[in-house]
Amino acid sequence: MNDKQFMTFFLGVMGVLTIIFFVIFFIAQIIVPEIKTADEFTNNAVVSRIEPIGKLNYSDASGQEISAEKSLVKADLYSNGEEVYNAVCQSCHTSGILNSPKYGDKAAWSKRLSKGKAKLYANAINGIGAMPAKGGRPDLSEKLIEMSVDYILESAN
Ligand code: HEC
Repeated sequence: MNDKQFMTFFLGVMGVLTIIFFVIFFIAQIIVPEIKTADEFTNNAVVSRIEPIGKLNYSDASGQEISAEKSLVKADLYSNGEEVYNAVCQSCHTSGILNSPKYGDKAAWSKRLSKGKAKLYANAINGIGAMPAKGGRPDLSEKLIEMSVDYILESAN
């Protein structure tokens, strides 16, 4: 068998196999009934089975949807200047780190107070020098920062 004869034979075999493939394929299509993998009923049944047990109710008592903004109720972490000082300001102002005026340091604070309390409030809120705005807690209200400034000033008068 030379190369040419081989190719003819080979292509013939391939052709026959292809035809057999299609024949079997079409017969299978005819004799196997259409298999429905999932109908609506099954889908619903599955969905209800895998549903989470609880659902969050994003509505208030009157059934009204609570807007995203309202549901992010600001947690009242701190209610007075002392709490804010202990949580936020003391990390710097107790030790006097970064040359911050120390808690209870009368001389340092009276010098600062000469600018006026309003200026101290503003600088605590907006930041000054190495001190970040609101002591690095932008989530706190200006009122709370002012209360913590008051708390610091009380220690030094
Ligand atoms: C990261 C350290 C740091 C934290 C936290 C911090 N401070 Fe300060 N604070 C400083 C430094 C440093 C200065 C001095 C800045 C300067 O004069 O350049 C300062 C200065 C101040 C002043 C004087 C501002 C002025 O005008 O002279 C006030 C008031 C003050 N801080 C209040 C607070 C309060 C209230 C908090 C907490 C809410 C707080 N600080 C948290 C570092 C800090």
